[in-house]
Amino acid sequence: MAVPCVRVPVEDGEATRQRLADADLVDAEHAITGEDGSLYVPVTDPESVPDDLTVESFDAPERRTQTTPADILGFDPSYARLGDIVVVDEDGPERAREVADAVVESDIPVETVLNRASKIKGEQRVRDWDVLAGDSTETVHREYGHEFALDLDAVYFSPRLATERHRVVEQVAAGERVFDMFAGVGPYAVPMASAGAEVVATDVNETAIEYLGENAERNGVSDSVTAIAGDVRDVATDYEGWADRIVMNLPHTAGDFLDTAVALAGDECVLHYYDIQHEDGRFDAGEAAIREVAEPEYDVDVETRHTVRSYAPHEFNVVLDVRLTRR
Ligand SMILES: C[S@@+](CC[C@H](N)C(=O)[O-])C[C@H]1O[C@@H](n2cnc3c(N)ncnc32)[C@H](O)[C@@H]1O
Repeated sequence: MAVPCVRVPVEDGEATRQRLADADLVDAEHAITGEDGSLYVPVTDPESVPDDLTVESFDAPERRTQTTPADILGFDPSYARLGDIVVVDEDGPERAREVADAVVESDIPVETVLNRASKIKGEQRVRDWDVLAGDSTETVHREYGHEFALDLDAVYFSPRLATERHRVVEQVAAGERVFDMFAGVGPYAVPMASAGAEVVATDVNETAIEYLGENAERNGVSDSVTAIAGDVRDVATDYEGWADRIVMNLPHTAGDFLDTAVALAGDECVLHYYDIQHEDGRFDAGEAAIREVAEPEYDVDVETRHTVRSYAPHEFNVVLDVRLTRR
């Protein structure tokens, strides 16, 4: 059926779609369609389209509207998706059951629904799960064009950190030597290797390291990733003075590993230091701890102070990007 569409050259398509979406003008009932080098973006109100854009009538196919869990429940439950696993976040078992049933009934492609059954715990930062639908806690998750196989029952992984990981990965230049001290299944290590870095990645969790090896292969970077199972304090003795960049994603206890990080650092090295702190002065303790260990051997320059997410009432997960330059 012919509907009003904004016609733009394909290369301007995403910027235009975003502009129209910001103005709430994109017609979700019809599909955005490409034809002969142009993109046709269906719009709900052609009169409101800015004058610099061309509106034409175009035969855009109808989009089947997806049924969401919220459509079924009448409220919007909190959940996260990891591959074909949906993780819900419910305290009571009855409501967890209700939400899980709605997720399965919805159009979300899902094999397994899990609810958190404990806090993240222990050295390996893994939690317990209630399995509410399906049976496998293993999946393949996609993040910024990379695939990560993982088993949530055996390794740490949070899809909510995707934007933060991408922010850090974008800083990597080809040829850099990166040491990922607490690497998990490789969501920093693998994309950094794709960006041209030589990466050494460690984790005490042997299962995480097995997945990291598999994920390096899946993403075609196994030649650039050395994955080592063990305590980073032991592994680091073979890499002293080696690193141009170090990732320290163990927020509660990264401070205990600053000696190791400084021993790994080359003459110039960027440290990505994650921390959990109270909202007041949330960057101060991390900066003081880094200065205490790195000075006077290194000049310490804090390039970024960034709040990643809220962690608990009045507590934040933060990161410092810190450049160490040997004096
Ligand atoms: C918060 S998770 C981060 C994993 C990964 N960077 C990510 O973003 O998914 C921290 C990881 O550090 C590992 N770990 C804890 N203590 C360690 C140590 N002493 N040496 C090496 N790895 C350690 C845990 O097993 C866990 O996989």
